[in-house]
This record gives sequence, structure tokens and C-alpha cells, in this order.
Amino acid sequence: MENPGTLIISDRDASSVRDFFNGWSLYRRIVDNDYLYHRSVREALSRWLDDLGRPFSFLDLGCGDADFSSGILRGRSLQSYTGIDLSPVALDLAHQKTSLLGVPCSLITGDFMTGLGRLPGRYDIIYIGLSLHHLQRREKEFFFGELRRKLNPEGVLLIFDPVLMPGESRESYMRRWVDHTRSSWNALTMDEVSEAVEHVTTSDFPEEITSLNGMAVGAGLKLADVLFTDPTDFYALMAFHNS
Ligand SMILES: C[S@@+](CC[C@H](N)C(=O)[O-])C[C@H]1O[C@@H](n2cnc3c(N)ncnc32)[C@H](O)[C@@H]1O
Repeated sequence: MENPGTLIISDRDASSVRDFFNGWSLYRRIVDNDYLYHRSVREALSRWLDDLGRPFSFLDLGCGDADFSSGILRGRSLQSYTGIDLSPVALDLAHQKTSLLGVPCSLITGDFMTGLGRLPGRYDIIYIGLSLHHLQRREKEFFFGELRRKLNPEGVLLIFDPVLMPGESRESYMRRWVDHTRSSWNALTMDEVSEAVEHVTTSDFPEEITSLNGMAVGAGLKLADVLFTDPTDFYALMAFHNS
């Protein structure tokens, strides 16, 4: 019988998430239309990095094509960049983007849940952009501990993710999100919207910020500084300091 304190992460099956993101061009159009608020998150993250004031190593979990993070990191005191993603299609594109950073870059194809612990060393910044929510609650709880172990003492975990409103259930969130998406993602075809809806309603498991704070504190991190929430209350950018 499984010990309640352990999690058998080798049993994970992330293939449906990988298959969706291997069709990268749909996700690219969603981002280019700013349907996930990348522009505002870019501004908030850039301001936060402006204030950091020290050189840093950067681990990008679920980096995708690395377009978002490499755009923010270019010209900053970056020491190294490491990206992990399930999608080989996205990582092919990430090679081009990260080659412009001018620092040692490493791109790894695989599941960050199983791959994180195998990485050598620790990082000053670990960023997870729109991918933590693919983990189930117990996996997230376990993962926060792994993340903390991979942070330098002064390190910071940055999470940009869908979040439930206080007291909201996953079902209510999904109803709100599907209504919003069907009425406002007008640059996509009906089939593309249906594909996105199918992915989100089957693969996304957002948490309340309070729940993420509980997991972070349980792992030894500080409570989140919330750097951005979007006007529709679907997403948040949070910074969890290690000390
Ligand atoms: C919504 S995209 C976000 C890409 C990029 N971070 C951004 O903000 O635009 C989610 C990415 O996370 C990756 N992903 C999801 N779960 C993952 C996992 N367990 N391990 C590695 N990559 C994962 C997907 O393949 C996809 O490229």
C-alpha cells in the first residue's frame, strides 16, 4: 500500500498535456492575441527583475518555446538559463530563442516532476509559467518541496498560473472560463476554441492563492507576493521567497 507521505511520481502520465502542446501553433496564437495576459505579466515580471539588482541563474519549468522568458531575460544580468518542457516541438523553437541570450543554456525534454530532482545545483530564480496547474493537488504539494530544494538560499520561486477565486470550486472556475473564452477569443475558429476548452477542462487543476501559500509555507517558503492578477480573476503572478 502507498505510504501517505510518499508519491510515486514515476507513475505519472503527462501524455495528453504533451500532445496538446505539440500542436504549438494554436497555443502561439492564443498568446499572440494576449488571451492569457502575457503582456501584463511581462510588464510585472520586468519591473520585479529591475528591482532584483543582482546576477541570477534562471530555471524555466514548462518553458514552451521560451519566447516569453527569453524576451524578458535578454539584456539582464543572467548567468545561465535552463528550460524543461514535455513538448519536443516547443523545445525545437526554444533552441532558437535561447541562443540569443548569450549565456550557457540547457534545454531538457521531459516531465519537470520527474526531472527536477535530477538537475545538478540550485537556482536563483525558478519560474513556472502556466504549467503548475497540470499537476494534481498531491503532486503540487510534493513538488513545492522539490522546488524549495532547488532554490538557492536567497532564491525566489515565480509562479504564473490560473487561480481559483476565494471559495470557488474547480467546476465554477471552468464554467466562468468556458463562457469567457467562447465569447471573447474571437480570433480563433470555433474548432480551435473547442480544442482549447477540451484541454483546459480536462487537464487544468487551478488552486486558490491561499492553497498555494499553504503548500509554499509547508515547504519552507514565504507567503506569496502577488505581483499581478488579471481583470477577469483567472490568473495570478506570484513570487515566493526562500528566505
Ligand atoms: C501553457 S504553456 C506555457 C509556456 C510558457 N511557459 C508560457 O508562459 O508561455 C505550458 C507548457 O508547459 C509544458 N508542460 C506542462 N506540464 C509539464 C510537465 N509536467 N513537465 C514539463 N513541461 C510541462 C507544456 O508542454 C507547455 O509547453
